[in-house]
Amino acid sequence: MRGFVIAAFGLALMAACGPSQPAPQAPSATAPQSQTPDFAAQQARIAALAPPYNEASYEAGRRVFAQCRSCHTTAADGGNRVGPNLHGVFDRAAGAAPGFTYSQALQNADFIWDAEHLDNWLANPQTFLPGNRMAFAGVRDAVQRRDVIAYLMVESQPAP
Ligand code: HEC
Repeated sequence: MRGFVIAAFGLALMAACGPSQPAPQAPSATAPQSQTPDFAAQQARIAALAPPYNEASYEAGRRVFAQCRSCHTTAADGGNRVGPNLHGVFDRAAGAAPGFTYSQALQNADFIWDAEHLDNWLANPQTFLPGNRMAFAGVRDAVQRRDVIAYLMVESQPAP
């Protein structure tokens, strides 16, 4: 009996003196990731676009843009490649990226890039503006065009 009491007292003591430190915190899930874009934040920006672009998928648009990426950058400091830098392309005059030498066709083009012009351009670059030098067959699928245009809308300008 006496042994039991001592043992029980010992157990109680051990419990009382047990580790009192809180468990270490898990690393923050919201830490910025340098390479991969913030898909949720960019999708939220797409949801605020005018119809039908508000229904686009950022992820699908990003996949379509993989076809453009070898020739075009979208970041402000991305520079020109085979094709002109597309930063700020919306509301910009056709053929106006600084430092890029355009074909005569794009130099002579007299319009401002908006979703509708881009949709026609991407559907068939050669028939939309004959004589241009963009060696690209186009994006035939209308949903893919919607997605890549919405992707460009958010990627070609900084988040507000
Ligand atoms: C093989 C390279 C290549 C690919 C792929 C390509 N482009 Fe281009 N793009 C060009 C070139 C070159 C020009 C300039 C054409 C000219 O001067 O006639 C251009 C021009 C443009 C312009 C006009 C820009 C301006 O400043 O007026 C837009 C918009 C554009 N491309 C979007 C796209 C998108 C979106 C895709 C993918 C769906 C794409 N391009 C795929 C090479 C490419």
